[in-house]
Amino acid sequence: MNCTFHMEFVFQKWVLAFFFSFCLLFSAALSVEGIKGNSKVRAVNLGGWLVIEGWIKPSLFDGILNGDMLDGTEVQFKSVTLQKYVSAENGGGSNVSVSRDIPSSWETFRLWRVSEKEFQLRSTQGQFWTCEGQGSSVSATTDAPATNETFNIERLYNSSRVHIKLQSGIYLQALTESQITADYQGTPGWDDNAATFEMTIVLNNLNGDFQLVNGYGHAKAKEVLEEHRNSFITRDDFYFISTHGINAVRIPVGWWIAFDPDPPAPFIGGSLAALDNAFSWAHTYNIKCIIDLHAAPGSQNGMEHSASRDGSVDWPKSQDNIDKTVDVIDFLASRYADHPALLGIELLNEPSAAGVPLDILVSYYQNGYETVRKYSPTAYVIVCQRIGNADPLELYQANIGFSNVVVDLHYYNLFDTFFVNMSSAQNIDYIYKSREAQLQQLNNASGPLLFIGEWVNEWNVTSGSEQDYQSFGKAQLDVYNAASFGWAYWTIKNDRKHWDFEWNIKNNYLQFSSSPRSYDSDVIFFLLLTCSYLFLHHIL
Ligand SMILES: *[C@@H]1O[C@H](CO)[C@@H](O)[C@H](O)[C@H]1NC(C)=O
Ligand SMILES: *[C@@H]1O[C@H](CO)[C@@H](O)[C@H](O)[C@H]1NC(C)=O
Repeated sequence: MNCTFHMEFVFQKWVLAFFFSFCLLFSAALSVEGIKGNSKVRAVNLGGWLVIEGWIKPSLFDGILNGDMLDGTEVQFKSVTLQKYVSAENGGGSNVSVSRDIPSSWETFRLWRVSEKEFQLRSTQGQFWTCEGQGSSVSATTDAPATNETFNIERLYNSSRVHIKLQSGIYLQALTESQITADYQGTPGWDDNAATFEMTIVLNNLNGDFQLVNGYGHAKAKEVLEEHRNSFITRDDFYFISTHGINAVRIPVGWWIAFDPDPPAPFIGGSLAALDNAFSWAHTYNIKCIIDLHAAPGSQNGMEHSASRDGSVDWPKSQDNIDKTVDVIDFLASRYADHPALLGIELLNEPSAAGVPLDILVSYYQNGYETVRKYSPTAYVIVCQRIGNADPLELYQANIGFSNVVVDLHYYNLFDTFFVNMSSAQNIDYIYKSREAQLQQLNNASGPLLFIGEWVNEWNVTSGSEQDYQSFGKAQLDVYNAASFGWAYWTIKNDRKHWDFEWNIKNNYLQFSSSPRSYDSDVIFFLLLTCSYLFLHHIL
């Protein structure tokens, strides 16, 4: 062996060793810890299971009497004799008049349902109608409703006409524009009289846990929810997704899960046992779990999927709500940190940009991060973008935690007039241009990994062909596959078929490789194999 050959050999050896370690580092950097045989999360959301969303499974609400008057329903009243609308002067905090020709926000009241026929009426500023009894007038001045704020609303069948009476049985009437008084003599008929109002339901878009339980009442709701939790998602679904290219689930839960089996009213226990089942099925089929706190006390976005009672965003308004939320994270982290199926915990789904100030959110996210780290050094801590007018970069700049932090961004070509008249080609173009540009910008930002934690193969296009849907799905997969943490489809099952992951797969509307290994990891696997071959071949 001459000298040159020897030096060459040593040189090659070091180059190869260097190359080999580089390959290892590279593959570690591109993969998500805990996801076997795959570099990234390919997840599906278990939406509408442990946090109720009526639109996902409308039949859950079928048995509710007076079902169009659930919590949060917005109503207006017009006196049939005065032909004027009932108004909370100044939007609340003052008297209630019957003086407006055209209804707007002061003339709109949100229902709190007490029973099928008993309701409390909340003004835009938050105060409730109150009346001290016979002969008194109604004002919108009470913050915490009780008996004096509870009214019976009687409806004429198949008509918008209503009568409103106190618990004591006295009917309200509108004799003058300046007030409503509790002094109608006797029982009014349905003719034009001072105690008859026309009620318009202007909005009833909340169908969450709060509405379901208050709608049925506790006992019946318990039956309905037990049946739903036991049947909507089962072991078979985990088998199905595990054999169709999915390696993780994102599981929305409500804050009351931490108080199982007897959570505060109106929530119903049992979701914790269902989550335990999900973890055990996930483990069986090699699926990872992301627990996603979808509903926080007081509601972080006013929507049914945060179990809002009436659309208010009260979560950030009290430190008590925020502290309680950290306790829920503590509970979840301590219970599941050592479970082999745990991948991560998402601290709060879709806080609203309009209702949740960034500083309050960031401070909560930092506390949540530390709380998860008390129990697990490696579980991913996922923080969700604010929805509405907010730039997700705000979370990259927030210093939420030191390691394994993920920012969750939701991509829907829906819910915004911007998308309303887009053709299928324009929708697809938007994915390849705007979505991809933002995704690359965030992928390259230092700090957290990026997760497209909700997206769907649906759009505003009304006449999309099967091929249009396939192209839209392909565009989304092409782009979202590049997100550094991965993605999660919304949602596993849905009354609306295009939203339903299982339907999409079975009907070939969404086409993605059912091989558990993604393109990235194939390349890395091949590189590693080549490296190892060269390394061993030359060295040994
Ligand atoms: C309800 O009204 C009655 C009658 O005026 C009054 O005595 C009582 O204090 C009121 N209840 C509350 C909780 O304000
Ligand atoms: C969509 O198109 C319809 C019909 O041309 C039009 O009336 C409507 O204003 C458009 N909506 C938006 C948001 O662009």
